[in-house]
Amino acid sequence: MRTLVTGGAGFIGSHIVDLLIAEGHDVAVIDNFATGKRTNLNRRARFYEIDILSPSLRQVFAAVEPEVVFHQAAQMSVKVSTDDPLYDARVNVMGLVNVLEACVETGVRKIIFASSGATYGNPIYLPIDENHPQRPESPYGITKMVAEHYLRYYARDRGLAFTALRYGNVYGPRQDAYGEAGVVAIFARQLLTGQIPTIHWDGEQVRDYVYVTDVARANLLAATAGDGCCYCIGTGIGTTVNRLYDLICAAVGVRVTPRQAPRRPGDLRTAYFDNARAARDLGWEPLVPLAEGIRITVEACRRELAPDAIEAAVG
Ligand SMILES: NC(=O)c1ccc[n+]([C@@H]2O[C@H](COP(=O)([O-])OP(=O)(O)OC[C@H]3O[C@@H](n4cnc5c(N)ncnc54)[C@H](O)[C@@H]3O)[C@@H](O)[C@H]2O)c1
Repeated sequence: MRTLVTGGAGFIGSHIVDLLIAEGHDVAVIDNFATGKRTNLNRRARFYEIDILSPSLRQVFAAVEPEVVFHQAAQMSVKVSTDDPLYDARVNVMGLVNVLEACVETGVRKIIFASSGATYGNPIYLPIDENHPQRPESPYGITKMVAEHYLRYYARDRGLAFTALRYGNVYGPRQDAYGEAGVVAIFARQLLTGQIPTIHWDGEQVRDYVYVTDVARANLLAATAGDGCCYCIGTGIGTTVNRLYDLICAAVGVRVTPRQAPRRPGDLRTAYFDNARAARDLGWEPLVPLAEGIRITVEACRRELAPDAIEAAVG
């Protein structure tokens, strides 16, 4: 299968690229390094450094002629979206429409879209499933929900098949530990470098942490199933931040009392997802248990930090 991954230098996108390559597919990557990294690029994928908003995007699509597009490129931070809603909308709405136009013009069969649990807002029942009302509470959640409407329009009127995957809290190696997203990466890095992590609110807020290679596999399965549908991609298991923190401490091999801080505006109390529809239609189920995923993530973080540690020791 000839594929194109937007945001393929990013955290989730790069794992999708690796899986596609491992499965023998032809892969091209688009990224502008807004948050992605060169070190995440797979050498066996062709790479195009370009903004998804660029008028030249169509030329890249025409050169690649993808059958399936995995659209991961986005402004992905809730905080950035509240600080700068215009930038968020430009990348997540205008950028998406530019990608959709390029898909239609170059005969792409299907687009798999990285949507989000943030489209739901505060849940009115649990676990959240695909029928749960979408009442997003941040500009980021709004743009992801709007994107799903565009996908339906392009499927209905322009003949472009789609599947939207509403991810839970994705974690794993390569997640950016410097941003404010990705609590596993942040805690792991802080604990490995002797810093004291901060837990907001009382730490009893519940999230659905899903391992990144499981998310990549859901994308690949969606290439050949689930046309016109949205799926919750989570484990169905809710985990408190306090429990997560204990697991990360255990994986790092330390016992550190975290600092406490007040609840952040917009923080939800509880969210976890019903993945029965993804199991039924895509044949997807999460395979990596949380403790195992955290162990792998901490080890990857340790390896990443090793050169810094050596540099610091050398002076
Ligand atoms: N990480 C999560 O828990 C999570 C949860 C729900 C949804 N998502 C969605 O999954 C996707 C991937 O997220 P991620 O966590 O890997 O984030 P990421 O920031 O690591 O990846 C996004 C990639 O898109 C690229 N990008 C951003 N703007 C671009 C532009 N204008 N042109 C070209 N490339 C651009 C970035 O450089 C980066 O490589 C995003 O769409 C995000 O909204 C992530």
